[in-house]
Amino acid sequence: MKRFLVALGLAGAVCVAHAQSAEPIRIGLIAAFSGPFADYGKQIEGGMKTWLRQNGDAIAGRKVEILVRDTTGPAPEVAKRLAQELVVRDKVHFLAGFGLTPEALAVAPVATQAKTPMVIMNAATSVITMKSPYAVRFSHTLPQDSAPMGTWAAKNGIQRVYTLVADYGPGIDAEAAFSKTFKEGGGQIVDSVRVPLKNPEFAPFIQRIKDAKPQAVFIFVPPGEHSIAFMKGFQERGLAKEGIQVIATGDLTDDHLLDAMGDPVLGIINTFHYSNAHDSPENKAFLKAFAETNPDGGRPNFMAVGGYDGMHAIAEVVKKLGANFTGDQAMELFKQMKFESPRGPIAIDPETRDIVQTVYVRRVERRDGHLYNIEFDSFPNVKDPGKPAQ
Ligand code: PHB
Repeated sequence: MKRFLVALGLAGAVCVAHAQSAEPIRIGLIAAFSGPFADYGKQIEGGMKTWLRQNGDAIAGRKVEILVRDTTGPAPEVAKRLAQELVVRDKVHFLAGFGLTPEALAVAPVATQAKTPMVIMNAATSVITMKSPYAVRFSHTLPQDSAPMGTWAAKNGIQRVYTLVADYGPGIDAEAAFSKTFKEGGGQIVDSVRVPLKNPEFAPFIQRIKDAKPQAVFIFVPPGEHSIAFMKGFQERGLAKEGIQVIATGDLTDDHLLDAMGDPVLGIINTFHYSNAHDSPENKAFLKAFAETNPDGGRPNFMAVGGYDGMHAIAEVVKKLGANFTGDQAMELFKQMKFESPRGPIAIDPETRDIVQTVYVRRVERRDGHLYNIEFDSFPNVKDPGKPAQ
């Protein structure tokens, strides 16, 4: 018996030695962790860590090292330099993160040159995945979220809409996709304005919208100071009292900020791929694990889910390929990905390496003292409509 136990001990020691010597998996996480978009990096990292907590922080015996790099963003030049350092000096297996479009676009040529997979966990301008064959997206695209809003609005008695978007890639995509389906459904775009990404000043735009007396305003702005400032201006200038309705992509009613935005957002109808209120066992498990992993993290939002699902996908690749693989081998696996996310079923379109998912129509309601986006209709299997016809 004793000899058996000694043998067992030795075998155990060999196993441990093997696990320790196996090359770790290095993931370079590029996002803003400071400045006005600091929540983006924190949510993405929080989501990745949540997946690791639920599934063990080693994949197939390999430790996972997340090399966190702060762009302070939006700062495309910084993102590019960080990506170069991560591939050349740190020899990362994956580049990941990307809260903001300009950062993802700046890194795409680095991923291409290094043949390093680039796993996008938020940045949502349609064209990003077309900028590198090594880019794959586990978040959303603005056309994907906005086109259903146009269709839904036109079908549900909304006829005259003013659009307001942030003046950069995702905003321009949102404006185009919403306007297209809304007009196809018989709606009329009264006018469209774009507000700068840096230091937005909403008051004059909101006054113009009020004067135009549309039935509704369709809005995309990145969550944070933009969404808060827009809702504040909308409230202060009394647009709701004039009967002007807000319709939006769910970026405006982001779960993380929703409670802080308070009563003015109640009743807003929006389209999006993830809600804390999504009723599924996967989402319940995710919410519980996120709270345990990030005790000071507040409510997770769609960026946390992008990080969580992106981490899941990376783990699937590592389970199959270990640590020595080519970027092309990894991309072949990413293209086949299909699994149940906290948001619902997701898959990657192998033609575009972009995500296919359900887009839900939701209304902001109060439940148990908190505000939630309550899903009440859905558009299943939505591909990114912003890609050139295939
Ligand atoms: C982006 O920069 O691509 C972006 C940022 C925030 C969002 C969506 C897209 O909510």
